Amino acid sequence: MNKYTLSLLILVLISVLFIIPNNSVFGQMDQNGKSKIQQSKPQPSGKKEEGKDIYKKFCLSCHQADGSGVPGMYPPLQKSDWVNGDKKRIISIVLTGLKGEIVVNDETYRQVMPAQASLSNEQIANVLTFVRNNFGNKADPISPREVASLRPPSGTFFKGK
Ligand code: HEC
Repeated sequence: MNKYTLSLLILVLISVLFIIPNNSVFGQMDQNGKSKIQQSKPQPSGKKEEGKDIYKKFCLSCHQADGSGVPGMYPPLQKSDWVNGDKKRIISIVLTGLKGEIVVNDETYRQVMPAQASLSNEQIANVLTFVRNNFGNKADPISPREVASLRPPSGTFFKGK
């Protein structure tokens, strides 16, 4: 092995040493990819938020503090068949919104409810459990798992009717 080949070999070795730390960049990209997938799973929420507080922040402005709604505008949650009925239907209303004609307690509404999908599965479970046990309603609780099973995959957009 002559001097030239030796120095070439050393050069190659050095450049390999520089490439290895660069590889860790790809490692990070991998991790990012993984964390994106993890986001679509139900996130463990930090502090437990009560259904009542979530209602105040995200529902009260339309459905009112006592769940009575606003005649002709926002339907009542009091003794509503929609609230006490099928769990899947009420979960989907919060996850994807609602539009089109609906009848609540013999009144017809033709409005649009925006989706509240930015709420976590736990927040939606808590707020719906609260609504289903207040305002004159009595229905079984809703779990974060039931909400998760109905949440559309991220990247899905509401197409309307
Ligand atoms: C911007 C106003 C608005 C907000 C905020 C809102 N809603 Fe609604 N909601 C509506 C409207 C309007 C309808 C009726 C839509 C239609 O006419 O098709 C509706 C319908 C409903 C219904 C079915 C009908 C009934 O009265 O039982 C439920 C249940 C419901 N909303 C629950 C909630 C919950 C829970 C929240 C908070 C997480 C919430 N809404 C936030 C406006 C709102």
